[in-house]
Formats: sequence, structure tokens, C-alpha cells
Amino acid sequence: MFEEWSLNFESSTPCYLQIYSYIKSCIFSGTLPIGTKLPTQKELAIQFGVNRSTVVTATELLAADDLIKSNGKGGTIVKNNASSLNAPPPPNWTSYIHAGSHYPNKSTVQLINNNEHRTDIYALTRPELSKELFIPEMLKEMRMYNALDPDSLGYDHPNGNFLLRENLCSYYADLGVKVNPDQILIVSGALQALYLISAGILFRGSAILTEAQSYIYSVNVFQSAGMRLFGIPADENGISIANLEKTHSQTNASILYSIPNFNNPTGILMSEERKKRLYQFCQNRKLPVIEDDTYRELYFTERKPIPLKFYDTNELILLVGSCSKVLFPGFRLGWIVGTKPVIDRLADIKTQIDLGTNTLSQRLMNFLVESTYYSQHLEHIRGCLRERRDFVLDILNRNFHGLCSWSIPKGGVYIWLSINPNISVSKLFQRCLKNKVLFCPGDIYSSHANNSIRISYSYLPLRDLECSLLLLKQCMLEELNLMS
Ligand SMILES: Cc1ncc(COP(=O)(O)O)c(C=O)c1O
Repeated sequence: MFEEWSLNFESSTPCYLQIYSYIKSCIFSGTLPIGTKLPTQKELAIQFGVNRSTVVTATELLAADDLIKSNGKGGTIVKNNASSLNAPPPPNWTSYIHAGSHYPNKSTVQLINNNEHRTDIYALTRPELSKELFIPEMLKEMRMYNALDPDSLGYDHPNGNFLLRENLCSYYADLGVKVNPDQILIVSGALQALYLISAGILFRGSAILTEAQSYIYSVNVFQSAGMRLFGIPADENGISIANLEKTHSQTNASILYSIPNFNNPTGILMSEERKKRLYQFCQNRKLPVIEDDTYRELYFTERKPIPLKFYDTNELILLVGSCSKVLFPGFRLGWIVGTKPVIDRLADIKTQIDLGTNTLSQRLMNFLVESTYYSQHLEHIRGCLRERRDFVLDILNRNFHGLCSWSIPKGGVYIWLSINPNISVSKLFQRCLKNKVLFCPGDIYSSHANNSIRISYSYLPLRDLECSLLLLKQCMLEELNLMS
């Protein structure tokens, strides 16, 4: 405490007054909230380089102002601050908070957000790549390249860095998707793409179709804009077309949001056959699609999965991509590929929201794509993630029979576990949290309760992955014993 401050011994203001004024300003600014314990007088004297009597005089003045008091245990605490002394009470922020139009996160999501960065917790929730999965040479080159160049730090074109958009055009051309730079908008992550779409092209009250288990349920992007989500069941090949047809007819939905390649949370890879049928259906019904393609590059299959956009001959699909799961979420870098009028509309809104995506991330992305690093990195992480998936599957096979079932993901970073119905997932979540293991309960990804959980194998070191899974097993057994 107080390390950043020192006395001015040259000043004509006596030292005790300087100390008094400084501590008072800390209390008034809120740096020292009510109840804060102050260092002892001896400690303060040593810290400020003065006699103890100087500190005593300063603290007597603070006590006379009713700002500090003894805590009865030989220490001193802050008793009052500006507002508790004489300032008018603060505004009723609670009523403002309830007035905001954006829905809060579900309480479980808030709990996860507030706990998953703790260093003492095993976060089976985190989907980012473990730092040991990055090729050291690539990180070194990125550090060297990232010298700040004032030319690249100004505001950029509303659609984002032109070179990056050109690079994305080449990337998609290799996948058989032909686009121009003006059909691409660079955004601050895929989540922003979804916000722009909800704010820019959909009516309040619109119905949105999606897989019954979907990332979109865990964020209130459409719901806060007054839209309704309708979940369509999926099997191991992806969304059910028969159910889609039925629900579309009932709801007259405006758009379909789908994650065909390695769905979050289920990990399902939509088969090519299903993709063709899905596209055909949407084309016949003139139903636009938001294709969230965040995980496609993380495939373990022999054939590279194709985006739905590959079939798009009718400008039906808005393809959303992101660097978050293949590189760094901290880049906050994503993109939307779509028909030009929609891209122009969304770019126009984006300029009103954040005036463009971080230019350094865009520049670094160009560097990686133009060197061989990006393709090397993708190849490397696919191998590492596959090994990690097998590592976890092996632990599951050896330990979890009777406790849960799972299917083998063909890519991505998640395993979706269907938990023994005799175990309550919400109780399991609380028990695990007490034991410092965090997972994502399935109901945050759905409008219905379900007895599933999502675990990620990309983030924790292997040793921690194993420890956390064994703790998870222990907690499941304890929950089962409580039931019997
Ligand atoms: C399917 C899906 N879309 C979008 C996002 C948001 O990604 P970004 O970090 O690019 O905003 C996530 C993040 O987990 C996701 O799983």
C-alpha cells in the first residue's frame, strides 16, 4: 500500500501534513474503501522515511476528521469516505442497471466467466489453445514483426484492412468459394458479427432457427434484440431437415443460424450429404443462413470439411469466421463474408460502434498468412488437438463407464458428455466448483434442461486435464452415492 507515493522533503508543507493530505485523498478517491486496514504506524514511518511521531500526528488528524478509527485489535481502518461523511448519496445505479435493454448473462455463465480465470481452478470450460501448442519460432517472428509502425495504426477502411480481405479471398478460393474483398467485413471477433447481423438486418420479434444445442443460446445477442430462438434437433450428421421444415413452416422464421462444422457445444460435424440437403432446403424456402464457421480448420478427418457457403449460388449465406479458436481470441479478429449490400450495411453500423477492428491484429494476421507460418501452425495444432482428444477419450474409457456417455468428435475442441440421469448436473456443477473444477453445463446452450455437459481439451496442460477429469469422476460418484 502507498508504494507509488513519496514525501517531498524539499516542500515547505510539513511532512505530517503531506501524509495526512495523501491518505485523505486516497480515502476520498475510493482507492482506500471503508473498512480498509491501514499499515501500522511503525510500518508507515519506515515506508515514508520519517519518525513515528510524524505518522502519529498525521493519523490523529485523520481520526479527528472521522476518516479512520481503531479496529479494536491494535490496527486502524478507514471509517468514512466523502459520501458517508457529507456528500449526497450516489444515484440509484440498480434501477439504471435494470433499465438497460441488453439481457444479463445466465447466472451459470456469469459464474463461469468469474471463475475460469482463477489460477487455482481447472477450467475445462476454456476453448482457447494452450500456450504450449504454439510453434515457438512463429511466436518469436510475430514479436519481431510487431514493431509499431505509425502508418498502420490509423483508422482503416470501414470494411477492414484491404490486404487481409484479399488474403481471405485467396483462402476461400482454395475452398472453392469465390468472393471479392468488398464482400468481406473484418470484425472484432465472430460474436461482433452476430451483433451486427442482429442490429443491421433483422426485425424485432423475428424468429431465428438454430440447432437445438447451440452457442447462440449462451449469449443473448438475438434475445436482447427481441428475437425468438427455435431449436431444431440434430443427429450425428447435423441438423434434422424434416424438423427444420416443420418448424420453419410453423414460425415463418427470418434466418437460420447454424454451426455445421464442429458445433459448439456438441462437436457434431455436419455430413456433406446433410449440408447439400440443408442448402437445397434453404434455397427453396429463400431462408438466409448465418453459417458460423469458427471451428472448421480444427478437423481430424482425412478430408477437409467444406463450408456450407461452398454450395451458395444464390447469395443466401452469411459466412462468419474467426481467429479465436485457431490462433488467439485476444486478437479479437473475425470476418463476415456475404452479399455486398449486407456487408455495406453492417460495415456502416460497425463504424458507429467501434470505428474498426484492431489494426495490429489485422497486420499480424497478414504476416502469418503470407508467410508459411499460418498453414504450418494449423497443421501442427490439428495434430496436437487430435492427440489431446485421444488422451481425454482414453481417460473417459477407463474411468467413466456408467457415469456418462459421449461420441467421438471428428474435430474442434469439445467433448459433449451425456450424464447418467441419476446425477443432477446443477448439483454436480456446484460440487465440482467447490473442488476447483469448472465445466459448462449443457443447459446454457439450449432452451431446454438437458443432462449434458461440455468439456474442452484444448486449454489445460495434459497433467491438469487428467487431474480435473479424475476430480470430475469423484464428484459424479459422490453425487450418485447421495442419490442411493
Ligand atoms: C460458435 C462460436 N461463434 C462465435 C464465438 C465467438 O468467437 P469470437 O471470439 O471470435 O468472438 C464462439 C466462441 O466461443 C463460438 O463458439
